[in-house]
Amino acid sequence: MEVIILKDPLEVSKLAAAHVVHQVQQKPMSCLGLATGSTPKNMYELLCQYYEQGKVDFSRVTSFNLDEYVGLASHHPASYGSYMEENLFRFINIRKENCHIPNGMAEDVPKECQSYEEKIQKAGGIDLQILGIGTDGHIAFNEPSSSLSSRTRLKTLTEQTRNDNRHFFAEEEEVPVHVITMGVGTIMEARKILLLATGEKKADAIAKTVEGPVTAMVPSSILQFHSKVALVIDEAAARLLTRKDYYRWVYMQKPPWQKQIADSFL
Ligand code: F6R
Repeated sequence: MEVIILKDPLEVSKLAAAHVVHQVQQKPMSCLGLATGSTPKNMYELLCQYYEQGKVDFSRVTSFNLDEYVGLASHHPASYGSYMEENLFRFINIRKENCHIPNGMAEDVPKECQSYEEKIQKAGGIDLQILGIGTDGHIAFNEPSSSLSSRTRLKTLTEQTRNDNRHFFAEEEEVPVHVITMGVGTIMEARKILLLATGEKKADAIAKTVEGPVTAMVPSSILQFHSKVALVIDEAAARLLTRKDYYRWVYMQKPPWQKQIADSFL
């Protein structure tokens, strides 16, 4: 597990965007796994800029989002469909038919989940998965106690997650209780994973993810079993890591060919 500690959220976004650009340049038909929420917003903004500047071409890229609220139509302002449209899709040349987000309005939820899994398989699996992390250690919306081999399915959000996400909704609106989310097992099949975390609120979850035991009570801790995962975090999110200095040292000692992607963008 690689832990990359950077100065602030902007540096985190820059490095994450650099990885996405690098991935698409290396493999134009890449399949990207995408996250929503506050953390990756700035990364998406940078990706839009890099597209504008002609640095990256998304025309052959396929994407799969991690999750969607049940009961929100894709045009609802707080849906992840709207989020992706507003933060990325409408600004780049990705083809609409190649962008996949679970259908929160599906009448038959288990069928929708099964079909989502099949679409990921058919696309050849996810090359690069971008993840955020919840304050309770959730990845996608796999809340504590989620099966570590779970697949795309219906989940019930904790009150903590609903509170954390309340700011995305209008004042009079309730945060939905249910979501459709990729499972932990689905996420673990991605070839590479980049988890982004910024801010003090994520420090506890990050410490447990990296240095705690692997447990369903902290779903992100399963990433310890993934052979190609990097946590790109800022100083505030790194605060509770006991081996911070070692992780910094490892990053500083990287041979130039490993640091290439980062250096060309930071
Ligand atoms: C969103 C998702 C969630 C978020 C997490 C952190 O698609 O899957 O796991 O990544 O809740 O959200 P923020 O970035 O808003 O703190």
